[in-house]
Amino acid sequence: MSTPAASAAPTTPPLAEAIDLARTFDVSPPWLNRVIERSPRRLLRAVDGVSFSIARGKTLALVGESGCGKSTVARLLVGLYRPGRGRFVFDGVDAHAAYASADGLALRRRIQMIFQDPYASLNPRWRVSDIVAEPLREHGIESDRARQVERVAGLLRSVGMSADDGVKYPHQFSGGQRQRLSIARALATEPEFLVCDEPTSALDVSVQAQVLNIMQDLQRERGLTFLFISHNLAVVRHMSDQVGVMYLGRLVELADKRELFERPRHPYTRMLLAAVPKMGGAGAARVPVQGEVPNPLDPPTGCAFHPRCPHADARCRSEAPTLREFAGVRVACHAVEEARLPA
Ligand SMILES: Nc1ncnc2c1ncn2[C@@H]1O[C@H](COP(=O)(O)OP(=O)(O)OP(=O)(O)O)[C@@H](O)[C@H]1O
Ligand code: SF4
Ligand SMILES: [Mg+2]
Repeated sequence: MSTPAASAAPTTPPLAEAIDLARTFDVSPPWLNRVIERSPRRLLRAVDGVSFSIARGKTLALVGESGCGKSTVARLLVGLYRPGRGRFVFDGVDAHAAYASADGLALRRRIQMIFQDPYASLNPRWRVSDIVAEPLREHGIESDRARQVERVAGLLRSVGMSADDGVKYPHQFSGGQRQRLSIARALATEPEFLVCDEPTSALDVSVQAQVLNIMQDLQRERGLTFLFISHNLAVVRHMSDQVGVMYLGRLVELADKRELFERPRHPYTRMLLAAVPKMGGAGAARVPVQGEVPNPLDPPTGCAFHPRCPHADARCRSEAPTLREFAGVRVACHAVEEARLPA
């Protein structure tokens, strides 16, 4: 099990490090409407100053309700978005500078992404063998046809499928098998870092465990590092070493997995855990999540969680808390800092 990001740094440098990452989207109405209706430009802060680090071979999970910025973080890391502020440093190199340079392809080979919907990310008109072989060709890893076939067979076997499945098309597989195919394809470039955005959320519960176990086996065998996004806390508990809890574009708690589940600090983390039976403590009744995520175009003043927080006071309504370290756990909450929360 890893130690929290802050104390893991001195021994080995992290493989993946987000430093104050931020991304804003311009969601203004078209120019003409703005002029006619005199409406102002509208900017949505999807990710606003997120920092974390992941040691090689470890898993950081990101959790939080819909719209809190998890996928935007994922897309920033793999270079689908450029940050408006901050940096993503991969193995000591500024990733976005590399993505924009001649080194971009080499970096993309080391960092791959797995999406929630495997069907949408697999070309339905291609045979599986061509889908899995595509990165081998794109990255110039293997041009010899016979050796490509061999490698594809090995990749299919590594996700528990048969080499014979290569002749089939994506629609001939179940959801779980399709997600295994997209994992096989992601592994073709022998990446070190996998960014997994809700990889099993679209699957039946019975199939989820199978796919998650395959991912864990691959992690062990290949020393893979994961950023693992999920809104399912049971899945996060199974998969992660560290957990980052996001709320409205910011990290509100970043902790070692065991610490987070046994002693959640932030009121939002506590609310999420209390909503899951068995996680709110032995015999604890499930308490449904209260309230709703505010409109990100009109975020609350001070602590963005204050309209839903049972511990909010005047300071919370006016001053945004920053992420600070308390006994190895990072939390952004005035009440934690003032030691006025119940244990
Ligand atoms: N390309 C975009 N253009 C405009 N707004 C966007 C874009 N992508 C995301 N957003 C907005 O940014 C915020 C964060 O979205 P994001 O998809 O990162 O959240 P999420 O945590 O992944 O949510 P979910 O759990 O629903 O997948 C949301 O308010 C979303 O509407
Ligand atoms: S800063 Fe205040 S409002 Fe925000 S989570 Fe802490 S106690 Fe609640
Ligand atoms: Mg998402």
